[in-house]
Amino acid sequence: MICSTLIMSSVYLNMSAVSGQENFPQLTDKESINGVIEAMTLEEKAALLVGGNTQELEDDEDEIIGDQAERVPGAAGETQAIERLGIPSIVLADGPMGVRIDPTREDDANTYYATKFPAPNALASTWDPELVYEVGKAVAHEAKEYGIDLLLAPGMNIQSYLLNGRNYEYFSEDPYVTGMLATAFVNGVQNQGIGTTLKHFAAYNQRADNTINAIVSQRALREIYLKGFEMAVKSADPWAVMASYNKINGTWATESEELLTSVLRQDWPFNGFVMTDWEFGQRDTFQQTNAGLNLLMPGREEQVESIVNAVQEGTLDERIVDRNVRDILEIIVETPTFLEYDHSDAPHLAANADVSRHAAADGMVLLKNDERTLPLKSGLTVSLFGTPQVEPMTGGRGSALVYPPYEVSIPEGLENKGFTLDQDLYDKYQTYVAELRATKEFGQIGEGIFDTTFPTLPEMDVAEEAIKAANESDVGIIILASEFGSYGADRSLDDFYLSESKQKMIDDVSTAFEEVGKPVVVILNVEGPIEVVSWRDKVDAILLSWQPGQELGNAVSDVLVGEVNPAGKLPQTFPIDYHDLPYSDRYPGTDDFVYEEDIYVGYRYHTTFDLETAYEFGYGLSYTDFDYSNIRVNRNGKFKDKITVFATVENVGEVPGREVVQVYVKAPDGKLEKPELELKAFNKTKELQPGKKENLKFELDAKNLASFDENLSAWVLEKGTYEVKVGASSEDIKGTTTFSVKKDMMIEKVNDVLAPEVDFKRLSKRDNKG
Ligand code: BGC
Repeated sequence: MICSTLIMSSVYLNMSAVSGQENFPQLTDKESINGVIEAMTLEEKAALLVGGNTQELEDDEDEIIGDQAERVPGAAGETQAIERLGIPSIVLADGPMGVRIDPTREDDANTYYATKFPAPNALASTWDPELVYEVGKAVAHEAKEYGIDLLLAPGMNIQSYLLNGRNYEYFSEDPYVTGMLATAFVNGVQNQGIGTTLKHFAAYNQRADNTINAIVSQRALREIYLKGFEMAVKSADPWAVMASYNKINGTWATESEELLTSVLRQDWPFNGFVMTDWEFGQRDTFQQTNAGLNLLMPGREEQVESIVNAVQEGTLDERIVDRNVRDILEIIVETPTFLEYDHSDAPHLAANADVSRHAAADGMVLLKNDERTLPLKSGLTVSLFGTPQVEPMTGGRGSALVYPPYEVSIPEGLENKGFTLDQDLYDKYQTYVAELRATKEFGQIGEGIFDTTFPTLPEMDVAEEAIKAANESDVGIIILASEFGSYGADRSLDDFYLSESKQKMIDDVSTAFEEVGKPVVVILNVEGPIEVVSWRDKVDAILLSWQPGQELGNAVSDVLVGEVNPAGKLPQTFPIDYHDLPYSDRYPGTDDFVYEEDIYVGYRYHTTFDLETAYEFGYGLSYTDFDYSNIRVNRNGKFKDKITVFATVENVGEVPGREVVQVYVKAPDGKLEKPELELKAFNKTKELQPGKKENLKFELDAKNLASFDENLSAWVLEKGTYEVKVGASSEDIKGTTTFSVKKDMMIEKVNDVLAPEVDFKRLSKRDNKG
């Protein structure tokens, strides 16, 4: 698909031919930018707005995975240097699970491995901004030491559709969780002097077709799909934003002045620069530049020419080009490359492995633990079932791929922790997997980023093995992993519903172990929610590990033995059945995809329309128990410009633990209908010893509580009684209190933009109730 031919025009060669001449203004700091822009030729300005890719790209592809940087092999891309003016190129690298660069280089004995951190949905399950900050800091350290200037993360789209193949690259189905954790990540990275890129802006919620036209109401956009971005822009000042591949209400995101200028730069306002996703330049360069899109990635020669031509023909105002150049230069002067940071190519991988392990364990969610099956005593003999013991799912594909120095499988982690493995069974799995992978049908697991064929293995028939194992070992552990997807696709329904061979494995193992009165534990090493109701009663405990990065086995074992008491909570609902979901018969769709469920995304749907879940948003067990008390608000429940919620949490169990406390609000229906519950705040206790309490405090301000009124194009807080529900999950509410808003309040007026061009039927609880 790609061949490395030098295609960039002679413009750049001429530029470097005159480099080093001292009499040109030089980019030295922020103050020098005006002089530099004045000195730039039109060709140089256009060159700065187009990425420095030198690979030949094909026209008929929608996208390309970034590996076009030359200074750091395997990094996604770079900008063009204009040497005569002292403008260096800066290097951009993915991504959401750590730094994605090539681990080895030709004729170079050094290695360039990077730590594989937990996937963002695992990080989100910690509900711990401080921890996410630490992960951001660790990723930034590696990026900086490998010569990267700007990270292409965090991914922060909303997990509104369960089968979206990229959901694990994002935090949550809830915009508040997304916004809080993205903010923490951005701060963690940027405080190290490396930039972040919020992506993919916006309403990029399906993988199957990147060129979809997302038809979304203004209210759902503002309240659900843009909200997290708004929070991160306002509170963390990210260096960059990546516009998504798709269209929003009829206009490509990358060509939308309403999105990139009216919302992003005027309403919020954002101070960095905007880049495209890695598209093949098949969009309209003039429209993009005009709309406020600064940097076209990965870049191709024709784009430079079209910017130059558009200015020369008078269709594009050169002042717009200057504006776009300025935004990029203002970031370039902050980068390590510009500041001549001498990177070591030797980051602290051992220290970061600890960060990854700690984050992975904290992101695990205990879904079931009958009779306190867990924690297990270390030293027990364990029989492990499931092919993922041989092929662990530590992380994602595509731009979320990371090449770590090593990965710890679950059997290795258990042995490290002092468990004895049922070696016969383990050996059988090794042979089984190796034999299948040697066949044509199941081939090899692809390793390359472009290798999209990862056939999933059927499970081995363990009817006999299970009986022997139940007799000889103390506990059975079944590992269920996601199907290997292909990068360019969504998850399939086969990945939601367990295959027959997996169901049979669960039956055989659970029957055999039950017979002898020994427990069975399931580890869900999955990328997203799966169906659990049909099988969960057959097992004693379920631990959701997600895709937790390179320390998978160690982190799972830390939780299994109780060295880490699980405190993770679900950032995404586990539905009972896929077909319960309001979009199940429409998703993924092609061309125009209507977001009919509107604001009723995730738990907002389940709680408003009384739909039972398998495991609800915010759910997660602990090895201890907590009591909630003293749930109240201040100001006698009269809202002025903010209100404070209080709650006391006590550890009433027997082991130390942390609790994630969630504050949901049910706003009164007024002119606007409201979901039954919306998360408005959360907090995680410190580690509480048994018998210890912590008083928690949550501030709710007007903007956070407001709804978006499309008629006024404003955030409004409608009058009435607001119910504040403090709970351990969206369904486990421990106490309710109220406050009142006396009269309707207009909180913030914004540009009236991004309206759908077509009428469509939106889900409404008012219809539902007749
Ligand atoms: C992905 C982005 C990624 C970029 C560069 C694209 O295909 O959608 O998330 O940052 O490639 O690798």
